[in-house]
Amino acid sequence: MALHGLATLLALLALSRGQAPAPPTPPDSEALDTPTEKLLIVTVATRETDGFLRFMQSAKYLNYTVKVLGQGEEWKGGEAVNSIGGGQKVRLLKEALESYAEHDDPVVLFTDSYDVIFAGGPEELLDKFHEANNKVVFGAESLVWPDKRLADKYPFVRSGKRFLSSGGFIGYMSAIKKIVEQWDLQDNDDDQLFYTKIYINPLQRERINITLDHKCRIFQNLNGAVDEVLLKFKNGRARGRNTVYDTFPVILRGNGPTKVQLSYFGNYVPNAWSRETGCRVCDVDLLDLSGNDYPTVTLGIFIEQPTPFVPEFLEKLLTLDYPKEKLKFFIHNSAVYHEKHIQKFWQETKNIVANLKIVGPEELMSQAEARNMGMDVCRQDEECDYYFSIDADVVLTNPQTLKILIEQNRKIIAPLVTRHGKLWSNFWGSLSPDGYYARSDDYVDIVQGNRKGVWNVPYMANVYLIKGQTLRSEMKERNQFILDKLDPDMALCKHSRETTMQRETDSPTPETFHMLRPPKGIFMYISNQHEYGRLISTANYNITHFNNDLWQIFENQLDWKEKYIHPNYSRIFSENFVEQPCPDVFWFPIFSERACDELVDEMENFGQWSGGKHHDSRISGGYENVPTDDIHMRQIGLENEWLHFIREFIAPVTLKVFAGYYTKGFALLNFVVKYSPDRQRSLRPHHDSSTFTINIALNSKDVDFQGGGCRFHRYNCSLDSPRKGWSFMHPGRLTHLHEGLLVTNGTRYIAVSFIDP
Ligand SMILES: *[C@@H]1O[C@H](CO)[C@@H](O)[C@H](O)[C@H]1NC(C)=O
Ligand SMILES: *[C@@H]1O[C@H](CO)[C@@H](O)[C@H](O)[C@H]1NC(C)=O
Ligand SMILES: *[C@@H]1O[C@H](CO)[C@@H](O)[C@H](O)[C@H]1NC(C)=O
Ligand SMILES: *[C@@H]1O[C@H](CO)[C@@H](O)[C@H](O)[C@H]1NC(C)=O
Ligand SMILES: *[C@@H]1O[C@H](CO)[C@@H](O)[C@H](O)[C@H]1NC(C)=O
Ligand SMILES: *[C@@H]1O[C@H](CO)[C@@H](O)[C@H](O)[C@H]1NC(C)=O
Repeated sequence: MALHGLATLLALLALSRGQAPAPPTPPDSEALDTPTEKLLIVTVATRETDGFLRFMQSAKYLNYTVKVLGQGEEWKGGEAVNSIGGGQKVRLLKEALESYAEHDDPVVLFTDSYDVIFAGGPEELLDKFHEANNKVVFGAESLVWPDKRLADKYPFVRSGKRFLSSGGFIGYMSAIKKIVEQWDLQDNDDDQLFYTKIYINPLQRERINITLDHKCRIFQNLNGAVDEVLLKFKNGRARGRNTVYDTFPVILRGNGPTKVQLSYFGNYVPNAWSRETGCRVCDVDLLDLSGNDYPTVTLGIFIEQPTPFVPEFLEKLLTLDYPKEKLKFFIHNSAVYHEKHIQKFWQETKNIVANLKIVGPEELMSQAEARNMGMDVCRQDEECDYYFSIDADVVLTNPQTLKILIEQNRKIIAPLVTRHGKLWSNFWGSLSPDGYYARSDDYVDIVQGNRKGVWNVPYMANVYLIKGQTLRSEMKERNQFILDKLDPDMALCKHSRETTMQRETDSPTPETFHMLRPPKGIFMYISNQHEYGRLISTANYNITHFNNDLWQIFENQLDWKEKYIHPNYSRIFSENFVEQPCPDVFWFPIFSERACDELVDEMENFGQWSGGKHHDSRISGGYENVPTDDIHMRQIGLENEWLHFIREFIAPVTLKVFAGYYTKGFALLNFVVKYSPDRQRSLRPHHDSSTFTINIALNSKDVDFQGGGCRFHRYNCSLDSPRKGWSFMHPGRLTHLHEGLLVTNGTRYIAVSFIDP
């Protein structure tokens, strides 16, 4: 409701004094200091934007009482964001002060709120106002707006900012009244021009007693001054410091193209985060999920290119700690290669989740269009409380992710995910002037978790949560992912930052930037309060093989390890999880079930088994004394990856069991052997041309085959129950004459390397 007239204002003043409404008392003409109770903060906000809520939070923390004008009114102060305007603000202020009787004269601060935060408290504000020794103090800036021709009419200043900014001013109510009562223009006329004309008129300036805050003691307009202001922690509280004038402004305003910088300050100032207290806005207004009634979430799942570890990605979605009947899935898969994975996932989940819609590669849908469609599924569905968009390159390791994000109760929030061990992440801390990536001062600290909290950022991607209600109101335009030639995610973020009825069409010049009226931007937050997961690299993903993830040991080693290395492998080192079934034959877990299965399938898919012949063109000399029925890793193009595997995962075991021997981790012969009754069934006693040999069982005795095993003659010792995924390691040349025991039924596979030949 808009505020009209005296009664409400006085009631408000009285309230902030903690009294019942009473007749105003005359001002104490002796006292220079106005008690803080006689300070009135007035702002205009037709909508409760995120920026407005941030403003109110800073005001609340610093104990300001704010009167908001224009709430619920339609904004008429100019064409959306990009033109002269703001007259509505003057009109509203004029109306509010109109019937004021001049015997009480509080100090009034009028300020914008969408792009403003308080950095200092009321007492400091009043002190600085009194120090200025004028009845009205306007903010100042270094750019003239809106009429450059007026520049010469401004009083000269030796040091400091010369030109008036109407985004914030402070003064005695009687003096401000003398200004605003001159207003007789339209709502869409320009407020700054109006105030400027009064200020540059020497008679008015003196009569009303107006000055500008040339050195940003009270008002810091960031436009044209971004480089002057640094974040500074003072007594455990964050301030902006103007380094040119060495001042700590009370009010920070992100006018013009400086919204991103203001958001950066807003992540700290006045009390959002400090080293001593950590995040102090992370627990504000949380949504309580402890009841039984969980919100309904639509998951938009996007596989926009062949991506490693997609089956694992899909499985992880089902491990989210969230009632499955509250989840609906929308999947866009544009890669034919992944259709088998999606098919399997569909079989597993169609009866578990509430709904599952799949758009496959045959639809030839663009990424942007698919993302629009996914978002629209939620938007159109009144039951959809949240839209959770996630790309296939996101590895969510924290099953609580969805719950934590929902609890944060923001319009848009993303969990921080980074490339393992890299500074690459799913957000940008700042923007370059042309709207691309720029690193903020705190980017590294946030990525590395040195600063934990919930951060307002200009760009996020890959995985994020949006309120369904937001999609149906501020983001109700369908094509959020399409804007100029931008990538879909950049388009979404730009739309969110600049949500308006209308967009600029031309690329903005500094001048048109200056024209921007408070935009109704939706804040995008990134949370690093917890660990949520990581991003995998989709670069160099070659899908010409059968099980292509086997090749990912270089590009995504951590995911490769999780998928392919035995879960008990690390216990070799922590608990000496190694057996020694025969002298100097060490036996340990190395491969997961999946590694075994995929390697066997890869070989069978390749199919060119050697047949166990003595003549072998694959090896130097072309003759094999003790031939096996095998396929070399080199034949399937896995040689480099296999050698890397030996260096990364076998060498540490070697060092443990053959202490003092440092393997080069080199092997000329790396191959998978196949034993079966109708082909090669066994291998006669032999030595290996290796310093040591590894021999990994790739399938299970009594499940896949009968018989099999290995016998070491010198020790009269047999190992006849090989375990799938476990490897032997034994010396190759001298002591360990060995034979492959007869496979009587089924097919047995082993992977062998002759290491350090
Ligand atoms: C706000 O007022 C409360 C109660 O008087 C006080 O405890 C608190 O310290 C004040 N906050 C600030 C930032 O001065
Ligand atoms: C405003 O009034 C003060 C105190 O009377 C005076 O020192 C100052 O010069 C005046 N400023 C203007 C701009 O007239
Ligand atoms: C993918 O792998 C195949 C088979 O090993 C190879 O011929 C091809 O050059 C690879 N493609 C790329 C882009 O690396
Ligand atoms: C790991 O070892 C434990 C016994 O210590 C066993 O129960 C478990 O099944 C092993 N894990 C796998 C995947 O073999
Ligand atoms: C080898 O061991 C088996 C039992 O494990 C035993 O019966 C046989 O006598 C041993 N042979 C020699 C030569 O020690
Ligand atoms: C051989 O294996 C097959 C299937 O794996 C099984 O049906 C059959 O009974 C086995 N034969 C013997 C002799 O164990």
